[in-house]
Amino acid sequence: PTLGSLEVFDDIASISRQACDDLIPLCCDAIAARGVCRIALAGGSTPKLLYRLMAENQQAFDWAKIELFWGDERNVLPEDDDSNFRMVREAMLDHVPIPEANVFRVPIDPADPAATALQYEATLKAQFGGDSLQWDLVLLGMGDDAHTASLFPQTTAIDSSDRLFVENWVEKFDTFRQTLTAPAINSARNVWFLIGGAGKREALQHVWGDRQAPAEFPSQLIRPSAGKLRWMIAIDAMPETA
Ligand code: 6PG
Repeated sequence: PTLGSLEVFDDIASISRQACDDLIPLCCDAIAARGVCRIALAGGSTPKLLYRLMAENQQAFDWAKIELFWGDERNVLPEDDDSNFRMVREAMLDHVPIPEANVFRVPIDPADPAATALQYEATLKAQFGGDSLQWDLVLLGMGDDAHTASLFPQTTAIDSSDRLFVENWVEKFDTFRQTLTAPAINSARNVWFLIGGAGKREALQHVWGDRQAPAEFPSQLIRPSAGKLRWMIAIDAMPETA
């Protein structure tokens, strides 16, 4: 990869175990240094096991000082099967003693995506005390079309430079999504991509390839300005000539 560290694992389960093990000191250090650990969670299916492992190892986390946010969300209510909030609630939140006030769900109003985005962006700015979101960690997945969060190819959110969180019309799904923008992700101290599955191989080949075409391969947008970028890749997702 052009930037960051690459670690190759046997499978998503071993990625998840490593990520959980590494999350423990990351949270401890953040809490020791700043009194809080702020994490933007990834949606989709890959991170589910990590969230379950965090619940299984819950005694290792100081939940009162961890704040959870969503890097992206679907345009659905929280009890909808497609909701990333619901996925995290079922895998983790229902099983750990995190104060409700520390869980920052995207307040989806399916009828008004623009207002939803503005409201969540205001929440982020208030919580972080300004425009630079110093995440302790942003967790990301990547689609087989090289999207990350809900920064999909050929969508307007890719070019958003003056916003932190936006609604994003995704033609191929004929729906709106809610997403952090690339600048809002790139201010993180740590960004971890968790990626597995042969279907991701071609996208990774392009994302790591020399041709910079972020409109086609939006994961190329993820270049933390000062933070650490970590690619945690299962062997079945590795391009042959990586
Ligand atoms: C979402 C995710 C999205 C996800 C990729 C990979 O809302 O779906 O945030 O960006 O990370 O689509 O999804 P899988 O992990 O299910 O392959």
